[in-house]
Amino acid sequence: MRNVGILGLGVYLPSRKLTNADLAKMVETTDEWIRTRTGIVERRIASKSEKTSDLAIKAGKDALKDARISADQIDLIVVATISPDSNFPSMACKVQKAINARKAVAFDISAACSGYLYAITTAKQYIQTGMSKRALVIAAERITSLIDWRDRSTCVLFGDGAGACVLGRVKSGGITADFMQAFGEQGDLMRVVAEEARHPLEPDKDCAHKLPYVVMQGQELFKVAVNSMADAVVAVLKKAKLKTSQIDCIVPHQANDRIISAVAKKLNVSKEKIFINIDRYGNMSAASIAVALYEAVKSGRIQKGDNVVLVAFGAGLVSGANVVKW
Ligand code: ACO
Repeated sequence: MRNVGILGLGVYLPSRKLTNADLAKMVETTDEWIRTRTGIVERRIASKSEKTSDLAIKAGKDALKDARISADQIDLIVVATISPDSNFPSMACKVQKAINARKAVAFDISAACSGYLYAITTAKQYIQTGMSKRALVIAAERITSLIDWRDRSTCVLFGDGAGACVLGRVKSGGITADFMQAFGEQGDLMRVVAEEARHPLEPDKDCAHKLPYVVMQGQELFKVAVNSMADAVVAVLKKAKLKTSQIDCIVPHQANDRIISAVAKKLNVSKEKIFINIDRYGNMSAASIAVALYEAVKSGRIQKGDNVVLVAFGAGLVSGANVVKW
């Protein structure tokens, strides 16, 4: 089997910050409630003119630069997103056009917060089978455009951003194990409502004029998130033939600091081994792990030779994990 590894990383974060104090002026909430219940202090919000594809293109270009690979050497582009500019063209085709990657196959993946890991695992298979040589994998979300800003139970949680990586063949190590799971039967725990009613043939007076927005059952999701992320780590470590004591760093999806603490406790892993940046960005769906991995590597938290575990859980419901020998 060919070894596939991460050749470069990229990131793009919108400059506008929305703090807890800003939110307290919009809905009935406090900085104290948001910090203690979620760990979030501030999040980034895309400007009116910034589309998801703009975030994706900037992160993708940054990853190519980091990998020192030109766009014409890329033959696969996969973008993970649940907040595309529109249903089509795909974000991946928009990236292809913007970077002029003429030889690339391009498509999007919809797996919510697990999207980056689903995209990495998919692109890895293309490279392992010889179908592709080098892939640009991007996670980009403008998820705040799907938020009801009057609903305090959801609007405090999310932020916008994008991260990316270039995948290619490596001599040893790289992405050594993958795990993916789906629990469609629990999909109603988090969903977008009113989306299908935008232009109905027979308008329903209750929802014809509503914009799509996120609804979720927070407490139920919390429990499933803890259990499915812990289970995904155990499953992927088994595939990689590693013990939890051999993990140097876990980069989890950043939905809630208390979810991360509960996963650490369940796995009997010190929280110091877990990279956390939710305080600065909130939940960026697929982009959360992409940005966290970038920051963990660029800050020196992840070093060459480290065993890194990426683990995600998200709407769908879907979970996933990868082991990367850095
Ligand atoms: N400010 C102040 N009070 C609030 C707020 C707020 N922003 N939001 C809710 N409350 C209130 C509630 O109304 C409730 O009041 P009540 O007791 O008078 O009824 C009280 O706070 C407690 O509400 P809970 O929902 O029980 O609070 P909880 O401790 O469960 O925290 C949270 C809520 C943060 C949403 C938590 O359940 C959570 O993080 N769940 C997981 C969510 C998640 O992971 N979502 C994304 C997964 S998929 C993806 O990422 C795409």
